[in-house]
Amino acid sequence: MPDRFLVTGGLGCIGAWAAHELLAEGAEVVVADLGTADHRLRNLVGDAPAGLTRVALDITDADAVMACFAAERPTHVIHLAALQVPFCRADPVGGARVNVVGTISLLEAMAEHLPDRVFAYASSVAAYGGEDEPTENGVAAADPQGKPHTLYGVYKRANEESSAVYHADRGLSSIGLRPYVVYGVGRDQGVTSSPNMAMLAAAQGEPFHISYGGRAVYQHGRDAARAFIAAARSDHDGATVVNLPGDEVSMHDIIAAIHAVVPDAAITLDDVQLPFPPSVDASAFARVVGSIPRYPLDEGVAETIARFRDLIAAGADVLPPPAR
Ligand SMILES: NC(=O)c1ccc[n+]([C@@H]2O[C@H](COP(=O)([O-])OP(=O)(O)OC[C@H]3O[C@@H](n4cnc5c(N)ncnc54)[C@H](O)[C@@H]3O)[C@@H](O)[C@H]2O)c1
Repeated sequence: MPDRFLVTGGLGCIGAWAAHELLAEGAEVVVADLGTADHRLRNLVGDAPAGLTRVALDITDADAVMACFAAERPTHVIHLAALQVPFCRADPVGGARVNVVGTISLLEAMAEHLPDRVFAYASSVAAYGGEDEPTENGVAAADPQGKPHTLYGVYKRANEESSAVYHADRGLSSIGLRPYVVYGVGRDQGVTSSPNMAMLAAAQGEPFHISYGGRAVYQHGRDAARAFIAAARSDHDGATVVNLPGDEVSMHDIIAAIHAVVPDAAITLDDVQLPFPPSVDASAFARVVGSIPRYPLDEGVAETIARFRDLIAAGADVLPPPAR
């Protein structure tokens, strides 16, 4: 029997890459998402590939989440559904409902239906505060010590703590992964999507202004997805959160990688550091999840621009439909 993965937020960037990776190895994937913008999934796996099931699910509805587990009978779960920083800022109550209550719904369903599996879920570097975090040689400790700057970050911290309580009270193991800046085809929303939109603009031959700069850790969507898949399959015992490894570079390095593919790309930037530590200790990842090969930055950027070019040439939608 192939593994059957339930991926919440599976119409999003990392979720679509998870479906791409899982379907390629012959696993079954249940994409559970509230949204209707399915361009990311279609662009990566096609319209109706074998092994893919799509379910309309609002994770804030705990009964619906429980019923989805009962009906779809997943063997593994990757929980990615969330509202990103701008959406939480615009709608703090809705953000708390999706990001916090929704995660509790998932934890309840895991404890009920898959108590012996590892719950793999997305936290975020936004769980950290800014450069006030204690750092050693410029690297912030493996776990945040300061206070998040955004409600989104507070919600992610709450999920980390909730997962620890589910392990203590119900014996449910979990691995939370904190991505930093994910890029790749499908990364088209959230504060940190700006450099990826510069890759899209370069593929289109258009100028672009990147909204931030400084140093950050970059992860290709494929590699982020592989990390969540490995976490869900691990036999980890405990409730652990680890930072996702990636390329620790400056925005100038990202722009240089774009210029290596599109030498005349016209890119400007606001060279302002994100409100997170420029580097975070990701050394626990290999111990907790395993060793996962990554795209080197230049290859990841080249792959992204090439994929965007192919999609544009094919007339595909590479952005969400405009909000009505
Ligand atoms: N992309 C990054 O750089 C990054 C960085 C840090 C953390 N993360 C976290 O990783 C996860 C995935 O990120 P992404 O970039 O793929 O996000 P995304 O914004 O592309 O996708 C999120 C998906 O969640 C869905 N969703 C929202 N509300 C829902 C609800 N109530 N019920 C069901 N589905 C709902 C949306 O429709 C969307 O398809 C998120 O939890 C995000 O906070 C991402």
